[in-house]
Amino acid sequence: MRTETTIQGLHAALSPVRASRKSIGFVATMGNLHEGHLKLVQEASQLCDVVVVSIFVNPTQFGPNEDFANYPRTFEADSNLLAEANCDILFAPSTEQIYGEQPQKTTVQVNSLADDLCGRTRPGHFTGVATVVTKLFNIVQPTVALFGEKDYQQLAIIRHLANDLCFDVDVIGVPTVRAENGLALSSRNGYLSEEELILAPAIYAALQTIQAQILDASENGKIDFDGFAAEGRKALEKQQFAVDYVEIRNPDLTPAQIDQGKWVILVAAKLGKTRLIDNLTVTLP
Ligand code: PAJ
Repeated sequence: MRTETTIQGLHAALSPVRASRKSIGFVATMGNLHEGHLKLVQEASQLCDVVVVSIFVNPTQFGPNEDFANYPRTFEADSNLLAEANCDILFAPSTEQIYGEQPQKTTVQVNSLADDLCGRTRPGHFTGVATVVTKLFNIVQPTVALFGEKDYQQLAIIRHLANDLCFDVDVIGVPTVRAENGLALSSRNGYLSEEELILAPAIYAALQTIQAQILDASENGKIDFDGFAAEGRKALEKQQFAVDYVEIRNPDLTPAQIDQGKWVILVAAKLGKTRLIDNLTVTLP
């Protein structure tokens, strides 16, 4: 595996790859890698000739009171994991490489979707994500880019930006990797205390309960989306979660409509100081 820290260095590394028309699979990360990230790398290596992984803790997607300063930075361990996985090029740029002189005048705003769900409590977050992903797409020029379904809204936003800005890239969603107890793997799980780690799988349990309620109700022809979401919220609040939202939406994140036959249940909740998100899709048989 080759590591590049500058845009110029990455271009030099990729120029023979482009010249020989090999496909480039790209996985963007903020490091502190776990099995969820590695699943994306594995998928990329199955789909493409060359795999590029970026590690960049993007300052513009963190709010002023969020965890940018404390975000776990574990470069050595990450680099070792990627070398063992099928990563060919690790791109680990500095903030100056990506943002040059700050503040920059250009941002990428994915309208309406960016202000919904997580965007309601994290203003500016998705503009930070969309802006850095646009920059990374321009730098790497991947054939395929893989993102986790764990961050469902982020994936939806990136699909829109790739389409709206005419990027010649296939955006692929990869299913969420979970611990045995159901907890979705996340770099932020490392913030959880021992007690919180025991409580955290309740989010997935709440998603599964709502999924089962929808499937049951569909047989009687009456699905109470708002009622099920409200019950899920109450169940989590009883278990020490400060719930941001429990919502049931159509797969494109518009409000749930009965005739869709497929929906996504989304949860964001804080356990102590740690904000956790998860989601689960339901498809009628
Ligand atoms: P990060 O949280 O490091 O996640 C990098 C990628 O890994 C994202 O596509 C995310 O959805 C995926 N991922 C995380 N946990 C996962 C899990 N348990 N199962 C499957 N995939 C998982 O998301 C970001 O970084 C940033 O916002 C980024 C896109 C890199 C822009 O800065």
